[in-house]
Amino acid sequence: MARTPIIAGNWKMFKTVSEAVSFFNEAKGGAEVEGVESVICAPFTTLPALVEAAKGTKIAIGAQNLHFEDNGAYTGEVSGVMLADLGVKYVIVGHSERRAYFGETDEIVNKKVAAAFKHGLTPILCVGEKLEEREAGETKNVCKVQTEGGLKGLTAEQAAETVIAYEPIWAIGTGKSSTAEDAEDVIAYIREVVAGLYDQATADAVRIQYGGSVKPANVKEYLGQANIDGALVGGASLEPASYIALVEGA
Ligand code: G3P
Repeated sequence: MARTPIIAGNWKMFKTVSEAVSFFNEAKGGAEVEGVESVICAPFTTLPALVEAAKGTKIAIGAQNLHFEDNGAYTGEVSGVMLADLGVKYVIVGHSERRAYFGETDEIVNKKVAAAFKHGLTPILCVGEKLEEREAGETKNVCKVQTEGGLKGLTAEQAAETVIAYEPIWAIGTGKSSTAEDAEDVIAYIREVVAGLYDQATADAVRIQYGGSVKPANVKEYLGQANIDGALVGGASLEPASYIALVEGA
């Protein structure tokens, strides 16, 4: 089955509103390529301006987190209701930085995935192993537990719509990327996990990205693999020319 490749930039905690808008104005056009989905996941403060700037373009805007409750006494948090109200389409859930620095467990990640669907947002569910887990031969098991934990309770249709991002933690922001073959091996396994949870049609439909030091020079190697449907990119998504090259490379 043909899956539309998806390149998503994860800006993390970078860019003011004016920086975000000026990036967008430079990147649009170039970053709109037929047959490739292009998404920018930006800080909350920049989302209203980016959603406005993205009107009439093929670039979708995403958030990097959401709270699983719709509203309530959760100081500093932003909910799916609020993101949907802005016109945001995607939301990253369970990024390893959220798991490591903000204590997000598989249970919390799962509630956030469900909250995303409740409000019509597409979750980009991140999974991936730490260096010590890789060295202990635990990579696939960690990815299985996180994938099953994240998708728990979803219908097959929702699972098929979820974007999964395999991001080995040791490859994030380190310049040490996984080889395309290793990433393909783990991603093919994650697809088997989805098939085990649902069925082959769901597994064939779900898009699975690789993330971890992806740049214009290596994006084609990853996208050339049978099971890799795109990339979730941090550092190399911050400059318009580099982001355009990533989308073109897909
Ligand atoms: O979510 C993207 C990510 O964590 C990878 O970051 O800078 O290695 O592309 P980077």
